[in-house]
Amino acid sequence: MIRLENIVKHYALGNNIVKALDGVSLVIERNEFISIMGPSGSGKSTLLHILGCLDTATSGSYYLEDVDISHLSDKEIARIRNQHFGFVFQAYNLLPELTALENVELPMIYKRTPTKERRQKAEYLLEKVELTHRLTHYPSQLSGGEQQRVAIARALANDPTLILADEPTGNLPSEHGEEIMEMLCQLNEEGTTLIVVTHDPKVGSYAKKLIRLRDGKIVYEDNITERFSSEYVSNIATQTV
Ligand SMILES: Nc1ncnc2c1ncn2[C@@H]1O[C@H](COP(=O)(O)OP(=O)(O)OP(=O)(O)O)[C@@H](O)[C@H]1O
Ligand SMILES: [Mg+2]
Repeated sequence: MIRLENIVKHYALGNNIVKALDGVSLVIERNEFISIMGPSGSGKSTLLHILGCLDTATSGSYYLEDVDISHLSDKEIARIRNQHFGFVFQAYNLLPELTALENVELPMIYKRTPTKERRQKAEYLLEKVELTHRLTHYPSQLSGGEQQRVAIARALANDPTLILADEPTGNLPSEHGEEIMEMLCQLNEEGTTLIVVTHDPKVGSYAKKLIRLRDGKIVYEDNITERFSSEYVSNIATQTV
């Protein structure tokens, strides 16, 4: 589905260059469930942004279904992003002036889905995340967990083939975190590809594949189909390589 070849992402800061990603090569197959772990500053969010075509690499190649996307226009990339990718990012917050329902409708407005159809779909998705009783609430009137569930419903609006999540359970009480992970697992079982960045070994243990980054490089990659134990994930997440 996605192939990265030797992706480098540098940021120039005065005379310094920060190597946020330093030669990352990675293949993501359809229906994978990958957890990206590693210390703060190791490049996890940068990698997720590049995978989601929200940012471009300094060098290296990105192939989506064997097409090198660096040759596509910004408009075409935006179209791919809106039609195929769903984002659950903290920086990609809900719009405060829109209700829960309107926030979920938004990606479908961009896609020009007819009004009635998009309203029904938004209601259906909010029902799926158990928020039927909060349709007309604004984000400030929702708890953190509820906001995150709205963000998941919004990420699902255009039936994405790939969901990218950055700390999807961050700052949530553990019972809500588990709920959200169960929901993501369910989607993965239904065929959605998932890439989740997390610090939390419990969250990482839901994945089928673990990737550990350090200093902008992949230092560990393991593909096991059994669910990892959180102790195992914790060891991988914290070991010094
Ligand atoms: N816009 C930017 N300009 C300069 N440096 C940046 C920029 N964005 C990120 N960096 C640097 O790139 C490195 C990787 O950042 P990134 O956000 O990918 O880390 P991370 O692994 O997601 O960390 P965290 O776990 O704290 O979220 C960090 O050292 C960061 O300071
Ligand atoms: Mg980050």
